[in-house]
Amino acid sequence: MKVDVLLGLQWGDEGKGKVVDVLTPKYDVVTRFQGGPNAGHTLEFEGKKFVLHNIPSGIFQGNKVNIIGNGVVLDPIIFKQETDELKKQGIDLTEKLFISKKAHLILPTHRILDAASEAAKGKTKIGSTLKGIGPTYMDKTGRNGIRVGDILNDFDKKYAALREKHLQLIEMYGFEYNLEEYEEGLKEGIETLKQFTLIDSELELNRYLKNGQSILAEGAQGTLLDIDFGSYPFVTSSNTVCAGACIGMGVPPRSIGEVYGIFKAYCTRVGAGPFPTELFDEDGERMRKNGNEFGSTTGRPRRCGWLDLVALKYSVMINGVSRLIMMKSDVLSCFDTIKIATAYKIGNDVVEEFPFELPEGLEPVYKEMPGWNCDLTAIKSEDDFPAELKNYIRFIEEETGVPITIVSVGPDREQTIQIEK
Ligand code: GDP
Ligand code: IMO
Ligand code: MG
Repeated sequence: MKVDVLLGLQWGDEGKGKVVDVLTPKYDVVTRFQGGPNAGHTLEFEGKKFVLHNIPSGIFQGNKVNIIGNGVVLDPIIFKQETDELKKQGIDLTEKLFISKKAHLILPTHRILDAASEAAKGKTKIGSTLKGIGPTYMDKTGRNGIRVGDILNDFDKKYAALREKHLQLIEMYGFEYNLEEYEEGLKEGIETLKQFTLIDSELELNRYLKNGQSILAEGAQGTLLDIDFGSYPFVTSSNTVCAGACIGMGVPPRSIGEVYGIFKAYCTRVGAGPFPTELFDEDGERMRKNGNEFGSTTGRPRRCGWLDLVALKYSVMINGVSRLIMMKSDVLSCFDTIKIATAYKIGNDVVEEFPFELPEGLEPVYKEMPGWNCDLTAIKSEDDFPAELKNYIRFIEEETGVPITIVSVGPDREQTIQIEK
C-alpha cells in the first residue's frame, strides 16, 4: 500500500484538519510528519468544534491508528492540555495515539528563546506563533535536542543541562522572562507523555505498508511557509512539502501515492512576510469577516487576498500534486467579480514563474471572473454548482493541470463535495 499525503499549498490554514477528518475513513493510519503546536487544525461535526495542535486530525473517526511522526516537534505542556481537553469530551487517546521516540521535545526555554529572538528582530520579526518551533528545530539540527524517547531515561538531567545553555543565550539577548510561568506543567506534561506508547514509528509505518495497510500523512503549515521553498526568512522551520513526509515518517519516496494539495479559493496569511495579492480595502475586510479569518492558534486576524495562481502552480510543482482540494468556496459568494492573479508585474517585467524574491512594488496581473453570488453552504452535489463556480474550477484545473476532486462549501464535515474524476 501507499502513503497518501495531504498538505497545504498556501501560507497555512487552508482547512487541512477538516479534510483529513473527512478522508480518514478511507485509511488505516493517520500521521503528522512535521511542525508542532504552531499548527491549529479545526474540525467541525455534529455541532461540535475542535482545534488540534499536536495531535493528528484522524482521532475522531473510530479507532484508526494516529501517529505523531519523528519529524514533529512536540510540546509536552500543550500535549497534556490537549489530551486533557479531549478526555473531558469523552475521547481517550491512549489506545489510538502513538508517538515516535525520535520526535523532538519543545522545552520551556525553547519558547523563551523564540520570544527573545522575535523581540530582538524588532520591525523585521517573522510573526512566529511563539511556540518554540524555530529554537527546537535549531537544537535538532545543531545536535543538542532532547527527543521523546529520552524521557524514559534521566530526562531531568538532560533538561537541566540544555536549560543552562539556553539561559545563557537568553541572557545574551537581554530578554526579560518569568521562567516559572513557562515551566509550569512541564513535569505533568512529561508524565502524561509516559502514559502513551512511544514507538519506533518508522518501523511501524513500514510494517503497515508491507501488510497492505493505507496511511494518510497530514501536513501542517503550507508550502509557502516551507523552510527551503517558502518566502524565506518569513517561513517556519520545517519542510512542509511532500518530500518532508518521507523524512518526517521514515518512508521511502516510492511509497508515496496520491498527493492532495489543499488551497482556499482565495489566499490568507498570518504573520509577516510578502503576500502579492493582499487586499487592504473593503474586499479584504469582507473576506476576513465572511471567512472568519482569525488564527486558530493565536487568534490573530489573518491577512486576506485573491487567489494567486503563480504561487499555486509553484506549490503544485514542488509537491507533485495529483489532486486538488478547494476550500471555502462559500466565502466568495459575496463578490460580484472575483479576481485571480495569473502573473506578477515586477518593474517592466511580467513574470509567470514564482521568483526568488517577492519585492515591494510587485503588482499582480489579474484575470477577472464573474462571481456566483449565491449561497453554496447547503449544496450536496457538484450538479448543483452554479455555472460561475464551475467556470472558476475549470480555469484553475486548466492552469494547474490537476483536477479538483473535493470542493468545500462550509466548515462542517458534511459540507464537503467529493467529485469523481
Ligand atoms: P488548517 O490549519 O489547514 O487545518 O486550517 P484552520 O483550521 O487553521 O483554518 C481553516 C478555517 O476555515 C477553520 O476555521 C475551519 O473551520 C474553516 N473552514 C474549513 N473549510 C471551510 C469552508 O469550506 N468554508 C468555510 N466558511 N469555512 C471553512
Ligand atoms: P497550520 O498547520 C498559518 C506562520 C506564523 C509565522 C511563521 C513562522 O494551522 O496551517 P513559527 O511559529 O512556525 O515559527 O511561525 O509561520 N505559521 C502558520 N501560519 N498556519 C499555520 O499552521 C502556521 N504555523 C506557522 O504565523 O508567520
Ligand atoms: Mg491552522
